Amino acid sequence: MPSVSSLFVTALLSSIAAAQTHTGTLFNFVPGLGACGFTNTSSQTVASVSSQVFNSFPGAGPNPNNNPICKHSVTISHNGVNLTAPIVDFCAQCPQFNVGLSAVAFQKFAPLSDGIVPNVTWEIV
Ligand SMILES: *[C@@H]1O[C@H](CO)[C@@H](O)[C@H](O)[C@H]1NC(C)=O
Ligand SMILES: *[C@@H]1O[C@H](CO)[C@@H](O)[C@H](O)[C@H]1NC(C)=O
Ligand SMILES: *[C@@H]1O[C@H](CO)[C@@H](O)[C@H](O)[C@H]1NC(C)=O
Repeated sequence: MPSVSSLFVTALLSSIAAAQTHTGTLFNFVPGLGACGFTNTSSQTVASVSSQVFNSFPGAGPNPNNNPICKHSVTISHNGVNLTAPIVDFCAQCPQFNVGLSAVAFQKFAPLSDGIVPNVTWEIV
């Protein structure tokens, strides 16, 4: 029954991709019209991931608006702060495990003037 087993494998790979924890650098990203097709602002809690993470998410296809990752969030933990933000965009030039947060969300971790926060732990949920 090849169709049943390939469905099973697809489901298994999806849950692995969504549950994996990464370590990367947090940066302040300025939302606008993003790859998911939403228009967001710096005062909304939203996130971006690298193009590698975005484009390798299970179910990703040619139209980024239809990428299933657009229905997911990132949960970021650092120094006792734990924040969840919906994924709305990707960053074309970022290292694979960097995560962007809108200003309002970034400021839960550090002042905007810090620019980045190294070594944050995050996962897609
Ligand atoms: C992002 O923008 C879309 C509309 O384009 C809106 O539906 C969604 O609620 C916004 N996200 C947040 C976290 O405000
Ligand atoms: C952050 O919150 C999420 C969702 O509530 C939880 O699953 C996770 O364990 C928390 N992480 C830390 C480090 O507290
Ligand atoms: C990153 O975090 C790990 C685990 O908490 C720690 O061992 C390491 O020293 C940290 N690296 C930096 C550059 O802060």
